[in-house]
Amino acid sequence: MPRQDTHAKIAEHVQRLGELHPPIPLSSVDRTIEDPAAVKARFGHTIDYLARVELEVDRNVLELLVLLPDVDDTNKTFYSDVWQPQEIQHGLILDRLQTDLGREPAMPHMDVSFKIKILGALANLKPIQDIAKLMYFLTGASTERQAVLAYNHISAGLKVMGETAIAETIINPIKQQEPGHFAFYNMSASAMVADKVLKPWQLFLTRVLREKSYGLVGTNSRDEFKADMGRVAHDLGIDADLEGYAREIGRVEQRLLWADKQGMTFPPYILKALRESVDLYRERGLASHPV
Ligand SMILES: [Fe+2]
Ligand SMILES: [Fe+2]
Repeated sequence: MPRQDTHAKIAEHVQRLGELHPPIPLSSVDRTIEDPAAVKARFGHTIDYLARVELEVDRNVLELLVLLPDVDDTNKTFYSDVWQPQEIQHGLILDRLQTDLGREPAMPHMDVSFKIKILGALANLKPIQDIAKLMYFLTGASTERQAVLAYNHISAGLKVMGETAIAETIINPIKQQEPGHFAFYNMSASAMVADKVLKPWQLFLTRVLREKSYGLVGTNSRDEFKADMGRVAHDLGIDADLEGYAREIGRVEQRLLWADKQGMTFPPYILKALRESVDLYRERGLASHPV
């Protein structure tokens, strides 16, 4: 597709998302919970994790501004009119749900990391800015896919438990907004590669940086969050097939960065991050239950 058409298509997608998916009001939620203790035991930790990640959207916006000092209109409209207003409501709604379940409110982590600041300083150079931009889109695609999958699991689980009210007025409406975010990042990353915005050395550096810095959603390069994510993987049953999950959440970068690698079906650093999280969670369990 010619360059102009692709960009017009992305801009239209953003506009449509804004029109079709206004932020979910807190007042639309039916807070009826049949068995709060059972929901807390089954999904409490995961809801807490997701509430924190959603509430961290304001830090993500700061990071974006650090990384992309010359952000264009489509990206600006996406994060300021669509993405941030939707995600912050997801966070507030999930946080209220977890206090309804008798848990503590989430503690969002709002500091922009040193790593991002360094990359941001370098991003004033145009060739680095383009690398940072592709990394930002790839991170978005992978994290939004993780969100979709997590909400799918929770929604299915709540239905089996007979928790119709919170499944239908909390998890499903949130779940419906995530694929549009994923599509935006996927289209934007794909357009950059199709338009050959990056030269071979820049793509090479992007691969190296992805290998060195890939993190699962909400782990923020911190061991305690990685262990928390390991528990999410455990509670949602993701740990039964980590390779299948790595394939799902790595599909976009596999196609855009690693298509030439024979026999590789997902980037190995994604499986490594998953294993690390699961191991840290198991180690934590062993530490708190000495035998
Ligand atoms: Fe969200
Ligand atoms: Fe999202």
